[in-house]
This record gives sequence, C-alpha cells and structure tokens, in this order.
Amino acid sequence: MSQGQMYFRTHRAEETSHVSPGTRVTLSGWVARRRDLGGIVFIDLRDRSGIVQLVFDPQKGTPPTVMEQADTLRNEYVFTVAGIVVRRDPQAVNPKLATGEIEVRVDELEILNASKNPPFYIQDGVDVDETVRLRYRYLDLRRPEMQQMLMLRHRVVRSLRKFLDEHDFVEVETPMLTRSTPEGARDYLVPSRLQAGAFYALPQSPQLFKQLLMVSGLERYYQFARCFRDEDLRADRQPEFTQLDIEQSFLSLPEFQTLMEKMMADVFADVLGVNLPQPFLRLSYEEAMHRYGSDKPDLRFGLELQDLSDVVAKIQPEFRVFQDALSQGGVIKGLVVAGGAAWSRRQTDDLVSFVKSYGLQGLATVAVQEAGIKASIGKFFNGEQLALLAQATGTGQGDLLLIGAGLASKVLPALGALRTRLGHDLGLIDEKEFRIAWVTDFPLLTYDEEQGRFVAEHHPFTMPKWEDLDNLESSPGSVRAQAYDLVLNGYELGGGSMGIYRRDIQERMFQALGFSIEEAYRQFGFLMDAFEYGTPPHGGIAFGLDRLVMVMGGGKSLRDCIAFPKTSSGTDLLTHAPASVSGEQLQVLHLRVEGANVRVEGKGPDVTLAASAQG
Ligand code: AMO
Repeated sequence: MSQGQMYFRTHRAEETSHVSPGTRVTLSGWVARRRDLGGIVFIDLRDRSGIVQLVFDPQKGTPPTVMEQADTLRNEYVFTVAGIVVRRDPQAVNPKLATGEIEVRVDELEILNASKNPPFYIQDGVDVDETVRLRYRYLDLRRPEMQQMLMLRHRVVRSLRKFLDEHDFVEVETPMLTRSTPEGARDYLVPSRLQAGAFYALPQSPQLFKQLLMVSGLERYYQFARCFRDEDLRADRQPEFTQLDIEQSFLSLPEFQTLMEKMMADVFADVLGVNLPQPFLRLSYEEAMHRYGSDKPDLRFGLELQDLSDVVAKIQPEFRVFQDALSQGGVIKGLVVAGGAAWSRRQTDDLVSFVKSYGLQGLATVAVQEAGIKASIGKFFNGEQLALLAQATGTGQGDLLLIGAGLASKVLPALGALRTRLGHDLGLIDEKEFRIAWVTDFPLLTYDEEQGRFVAEHHPFTMPKWEDLDNLESSPGSVRAQAYDLVLNGYELGGGSMGIYRRDIQERMFQALGFSIEEAYRQFGFLMDAFEYGTPPHGGIAFGLDRLVMVMGGGKSLRDCIAFPKTSSGTDLLTHAPASVSGEQLQVLHLRVEGANVRVEGKGPDVTLAASAQG
C-alpha cells in the first residue's frame, strides 16, 4: 500500500469472524497488544467493533519489508493491514474473543500514525486513577467498555426517539440562553455584553418553554434537552446533564402514565431484550416513605420498615424516646435483619453511627439470641415487653431488630438509607434485575425552615390534586400534587407533573409560596399572561437520560455514561474548565472580580470567575 492511495477497510475487526476462511480483508485500527515470538509478530488490532489477531510470519507469506515495518509498531499506533483470514489451530483458539477462532495473515501494512506511549493500558477493567482517565478522556474512551456505554446510550436515544415519533410527538428545541427557572438548584449565569449587569441563566430544565408550547397547541412535544444545575455533585448528579423532556395536552394522568410505561417497556425490550411487566407498580409517596424510608425505593429486595407504634403504645415502656415519638406525632420504625443477632457490638455501633450521619439520634437494637433477648434498650423494657416487640415485627431466633424513633422527617430517611446499605452489604440485591415503579401523590409544598416559608416540592407550576385544592390556603402542607416520579432500582429516573393551566390557580400557588402577585408577575409575567389565552390541560415528565443509561448499562457513576463529564468539584480535567479569563473579556462583559485566589491570564486585572456585576 502506498501513502495517499490507500483503501482503509473492507471489514471491521469483528466481521472477520463471519467471513469464509481464505477471504482477503483490509482492516484499519489501533495496536491493542503486540507480542514478538522470535520472528513471528502477533498484533491485536482494535477498532470500534472489537479485536482481531493479526499474524506477521515470514514463513506464512509476510514479505520482509512488512516484517520490518511490523517491528516498529507499538501500542496505540494506528494502521491499515491487508491479509487472509485463516482458522486458528485448535490449541490457539481463544474462546474469550468474538474473533477467537480465526486470525489474519498479514501481507500488507501501512502505519497511518504513531502514538506516544499511553499513560495507561487501553483495556477493560483498567486499574487506574479516575483523574488520569478523565485527563486523557480520549484514550479512556478508546477502551471497549467505555465505547459500549456510549453505544448503549446511542441505542437508548434512538429507541426513545422512535417511540415518540411513532406516537406523534414533535421535537422542538428551546433556548439555552434564557432566564432563571425555579427548579430548586442554583443557576449557571451568563453575563450579557449588550446589556450591562444583566444575565442569562442556562436552563435547569425546559419547563416553562414546554408549557408555553402547550399553549401554542403543539399538543405533544419532546426534546433531548441539556440542563444545567449548580448543585452539590454526587455519583448520580452532574452539573450538566441530559433530560428526555416530554409534555402533552389532552391526556389524563392515567393515560399519560400508561403511555410512558409503554415507552420504557419498549426501550428495555428493544435495547436490552428485558421485559418490564406492565402496568408498573404504583406507590404513593406516603407509602413509599413509610415502607421503604425513601421516595425512590430500591424494590429489588424486601427489608421493609415496620411500624412499631401500635405495639409500643400497647406495652407502654418507660422509655422517653419512644414515649416522646408517640406523644409528639412521630414514628417508631423497625428493620429486621435476618441472622443479625450474632453481630458484634462493633458492627451494630457502626450502624448507629451510620444513622447518626443521617440526623437520627440513635438506633435501638434488639437481638433475639438463643440465650435470650439482648437489647440496647434492655434497662427500659422487661423480658415480656421485648418478646412482644420481637413478636410484633416477626423478629425470630437469630434475628436482629433495629429501631428508630422520632420525627418522621428524620427517622424515615435515616432508616431508608440504612435499608439500602443493608441491602447491599447483605447481598440481597440481584444486580441483573430491573424493578421499576411510579411514586405518586407527592406533597405539593414542603416547609423550608431556613427560608421560613413553603417551597414547591417539584416546581411552582405543578397542579395540586383537585380534591386537595380547597386546602391550599388553610393547610398548605397537606396538599398533594399531581406529581409523580418513575423510580428504577433505587434511582429517580424521571419526574413530572400535570401543569397548572389556569391563571387563578397559578396565582394561588404563588401566594402559597410567599410570592407577592407583583413579584410573581415580575418573574413569570410572560407565563401568567400566556395562561390567559386558552391554555389546554397538560402535563409531562422529564427522564434523566444519563441515569437511565447508567442503570441499563450497570454503571455506578454518571461519569461512565457521559462522554466528557465533570468531577465532583465541577472540573473538566481534560480542558481544565472552569478557567480564568482575560481582563479584557471581563471588561466587555461589564464584570469585575472580587476575591482572593485570583490568577492572571492575558492582559487586564487579576481574575477568576466568581464574578460580580458592575451595573
Ligand atoms: P426534575 O427536576 O425532577 O424535573 O428532573 C427530571 C430528572 O432529571 C434527572 N436529573 C439529573 N440527572 C443528572 N444530574 C443532575 N444534576 C440531575 N438533576 C435531575 C433525574 C430527574 O428525575 N421540569 C421537570 C420535569 C417536569 O415537571 O416535567 C424537571 O426537570 O433523573
């Protein structure tokens, strides 16, 4: 082959296993591995489809000039070869490789480009610090498992799009430079050059626009929308993420949920060949919290929270914590760990510190051992009372009962987190299983102690349940919303609501949130105005695409299914964003920077991007 006249490829690596032996193929890819067995060189060629073994052997037709070139090949060089597909000798068959029964005897080679020695081996399961992988993300993405994740993502998107197209949804793009939407996180702001001191906000979601599209009569909308939220990051949160955002008019809530179930079931069947039985399970928020201590319960295992209020009320122990919980409207909840009675003090202490980190004061333990019941709260209970506690919860011989008591807002999440941890620690979870459910009837508002007012649990445009609407002013905390989440294996996959479509209800909602009508108009006048022009009943949902792909692909972090993700401190290690900008850039944006850790770049004053507007 001569430079410039090359024919790069007749087949992909993986396809060589499907051609008849004797076929001549041309392949292009990277050197995944090179072995020199004294005169015979074996190279694993990697392309997007997989790996195939090449043999350079002068005895088997490789010309001397090609042997010479083959000697210079190193890991990650990119090259083109031509040769004949042959069956491997039986003892050389590699069952772990899709192409393990064949190899290609090379007679032509062209090195397209050399490579520096890569900072880590490009292979699956590579044990290298994630910061190094992110710094060299383009090499990390060469690894087959990373490529498979990106391809899975592509297939998921393709399948979702197909379903929505077939069901008459129209894809519409909404602005990236917009004004702040109140989804609960902090906004990323973009300063305006043309209007000094004014800022755009990057969208936390297309919520307002999708509702406006319903006013416009689009009826069925979707968008793969990039969203931006400046919040504390976790393994399942990125500052920049993708939603499949959906909104529709003229479908009742049950009809809409059925449609979304069908979409999810189709995607799982199409992409993974997994059957998700319909209808999906429905749990009210109240039930999810009381049974699992979470509004996104992992339903792949039991270990449900048990209610001990009745039995405690009956046995009347002289134990203040339980008495207070009952008299102050709190809860007493228990978890029964099969076989836990033999756990050491150190093990149970560890669980106590775990729940303390979730704001619970303590955890009572009741171990039903052969020698009798041993309880951390033993001095407040007699043997009979302890036996009744065990009996009421089904704590049998050898089991351990863990009890939390206090305000529901503290006890339920702490025990919920403990349940999840125990589910993992005790190996109760089948990692291959998918358990999906709707969580419905969320509270419309929750009281925020810090702000001293009610805040929207979902967002301020969420429709209250009609039967609770009359209580919006008298008892805001008791009003339930027409809001729902779809949860999968302990993750919140999506959340949505029916939207408020009447201006009078929207005004009442703003009032309940402590906004004056003037303030509400100042921020959302455009929406309130729109509501006066024949807004149809509508509702929607947004799914976290990154999370969906992560769960479908068995990943543990969103970073594994986003091509170029950010670290938990919001840094892109590849491009080193966020970075300082020149004083000139700041100047045209009417910004001046205050603060300590300032760094100079370009001309002008010292800068970082903790900007303050210069009005
Ligand atoms: P919500 O705020 O519940 O609803 O978001 C919908 C879904 O988006 C995903 N998600 C995230 N994924 C990755 N990183 C993040 N930081 C992040 N934040 C949210 C979750 C979540 O369930 N406008 C409404 C939807 C509606 O009412 O129709 C909304 O954005 O999977």
